[in-house]
Amino acid sequence: MAVLTVHTRDGKQVQVAVSPVVSILNTLLRNEIPVHHACGGHAQCGTCRVRIVKGAERLSPIHDDERRRLAAAGAPPDFRLACQTFAFGDVTIQIPSEAS
Ligand code: FES
Repeated sequence: MAVLTVHTRDGKQVQVAVSPVVSILNTLLRNEIPVHHACGGHAQCGTCRVRIVKGAERLSPIHDDERRRLAAAGAPPDFRLACQTFAFGDVTIQIPSEAS
């Protein structure tokens, strides 16, 4: 199984198993890793955005709703919405200390 490496909001680094059929948001929540998710994972709030540190090529493609939401939030290009993103291999992410 693939590994999701997470740089958490409090500066720790943890590794958890990740499945290609479970979003990164749900992977984080199932492992009790704090992450904002105000809309509950419906690509409406943009608060679940995370920075992709490594392995962007092993993520699900970005769709228009996600692209629009990230643009509206002014997110840098290396950010994705955790609720809309699935990992197909080893990936490293950083959860921003505040929604960036
Ligand atoms: S939880 Fe709201 S956009 Fe992902």
